[in-house]
Amino acid sequence: METLVRGGTVVLESGSFRADVLIRNGKVAGLVQQRKSNPFTGQVIDAAGALVLPGGVDVHTHIGITFGEFKTRDDFATATRAAAFGGTTSLLEFAFPEPGEDPGEAVERRISEADGRAVIDFGFHAAIVQRADADALAGIERAAKLGAPSVKVFTAYRGLMMLELGDVLAVMREAARSRSLVMVHAETEAIVERASGELRERGIADARHHALARPAIAELDAARSVLRLARESGATVYLVHVTLPEVAEEIGKARAAGGRAFGETCPHYLLLDESVYTRPHGERFVCSPPIRSAEAARGLWRSLGSELTGVHSDHCCFDRAQKKVHASDSTRIPPGLPGVETRLPLLISAALSGRLPMNEVVRLCSSEPARLFGMPGKGSLLPGMDADLIVVDPRRRGRVNGLHMSTDYRPFEGMAIRGGIETVVAGGQLLVSSGKWVGEEPSGRYIHRRRLKA
Ligand code: URP
Ligand code: ZN
Ligand code: ZN
Repeated sequence: METLVRGGTVVLESGSFRADVLIRNGKVAGLVQQRKSNPFTGQVIDAAGALVLPGGVDVHTHIGITFGEFKTRDDFATATRAAAFGGTTSLLEFAFPEPGEDPGEAVERRISEADGRAVIDFGFHAAIVQRADADALAGIERAAKLGAPSVKVFTAYRGLMMLELGDVLAVMREAARSRSLVMVHAETEAIVERASGELRERGIADARHHALARPAIAELDAARSVLRLARESGATVYLVHVTLPEVAEEIGKARAAGGRAFGETCPHYLLLDESVYTRPHGERFVCSPPIRSAEAARGLWRSLGSELTGVHSDHCCFDRAQKKVHASDSTRIPPGLPGVETRLPLLISAALSGRLPMNEVVRLCSSEPARLFGMPGKGSLLPGMDADLIVVDPRRRGRVNGLHMSTDYRPFEGMAIRGGIETVVAGGQLLVSSGKWVGEEPSGRYIHRRRLKA
């Protein structure tokens, strides 16, 4: 069956224009000049007065993961449904190896967890945690062969995830050989340990002081080190959840010096500030790195589209009870915020409020990540691309509420929001219509991604 998305303004990263979108066999078959008299007998999606954007691509989520003593409350069925409500039609998740597993085996296990449950397309990043032994390093190539040519490492979370810098360098060398991207959570653990230890001694280690427990210098120091190691090894490096304009600047400098260095930030670092920790239940905002000052957030906005080429959710669905268990020691609170559903609506709202152009939202949230992470069918609506799109009513105004993520709190609850995602189409299938779920069987497919260009 053919579908025509009729009467809207198509927004691509290159700009906007009036066109109907013709969909056939799950792909964009054409962008068609709008004529009232166009005869069409297939399914029509009315987009009159609306914006038609490529579906969102979120490359940083955590779904159904165990972090220390806590497991996130969602799974691939619930998280991908929430993502779709928020206009995201593809996501990349992590495959953290279990004891005894190599990164390739972890990717295979995670594919089987998502298969048949995900309602949108999904892919995985490999990961190496705790030690980069020979088997783990060989797993980078195995994962790349499976279509997962990216590997995540952490310089923080000692005993859970952390790698020493020597291991990070070994991962980078191997990743460069496999043409895989290295994603880094960059915070120097020793600085975090010292800072949080001092707060504990002073009896102020609770969530209210979380921003002090993981100071800016920890992020800046680690970012500088890993950018240097990337330069040395020839690896392409991607810093996740950048919270500081100074780190964005370091990424820019590394790129200007000929390195392949990239970075993302997240909506909570752009739209919230450290005062959230002094609100009642500040523990619900605990994440690593912490949410910083309003000035830092303003600096991040300025680096969007230049030093930082993506805005991703870092979705992590813990609930209020889990967040509260260790509220008196912020280093033990399960870190992360739910956000896969709110990322794109918040960015669209920012664009409608004049904070950035709408085509920049498309670039940051769809096109650039699709390119960088090797997903050639995603991130655009040019003919031949996957028919993943959203229809946005730019006149709608409301507040963040009534979400679908598997948790009982929302970091952006009540925030004024402009624009409403009315319709979501993924692979040519209608998932959301007039804001209501109409999807049928889960039909998300595994995205076998391409390696980096040589
Ligand atoms: O606080 C965060 N960011 N939680 C998720 C895990 C991670 O570090 O990305
Ligand atoms: Zn992280
Ligand atoms: Zn994360």
